[in-house]
Amino acid sequence: MSKELNKYKDYLKANLSKKRYTHSLNVASMSRELAELYGEDKEKAYFAGLIHDIAKELPKDKQFELAARCELDVTEIELKSTPLLHAIAGAQLLIEKFGMRIETDREVLDAVRYHTVGAAGMTKLAKIVYLADLTSEDRDYKDVKKYRKYAHTSLEKGMYEALRYSIADSACKGNTIPLSTFEAYNEIVLNYVKQAK
Ligand SMILES: [Fe+2]
Ligand SMILES: [Fe+2]
Repeated sequence: MSKELNKYKDYLKANLSKKRYTHSLNVASMSRELAELYGEDKEKAYFAGLIHDIAKELPKDKQFELAARCELDVTEIELKSTPLLHAIAGAQLLIEKFGMRIETDREVLDAVRYHTVGAAGMTKLAKIVYLADLTSEDRDYKDVKKYRKYAHTSLEKGMYEALRYSIADSACKGNTIPLSTFEAYNEIVLNYVKQAK
């Protein structure tokens, strides 16, 4: 695995800024930490966290091309949102350049694909990467400590608070919000929040 891992690290080093590479390492570490906490495979979580932003700094037209031919489920609204493209493009890059396959690597591909928008039915791994991205060591937005605490409270609490934040923030900024984000939010409200009351 470490030889495999080095192949990805070399690619990331060559294709990401220093800042983004450091972020990737931090998300990998946080993913491993959360995996330990929630009983997920630590190596798999580290790997998925490491590669989540693999397409982040590709030229936008390249990101669009990759996303447009992505073999995973992609909606029109996502293809029209430049900040969201890199997650879908990343999954497709992993398929095309690194030979990952939907049949065998779906969990990791989905974790990369949904790390920006979320979805209903996310796996434990996808939730871990989503939360690790939001709360990694390099993050310094105002309430990061609060969200880090939520992420370490439970996956459900972490996702509930993260999705509330994400939806409110996107709406405040006047950005589009893909349906899958609402579906993730509705799922967590129905399955977790209402039951906890
Ligand atoms: Fe990202
Ligand atoms: Fe990220």
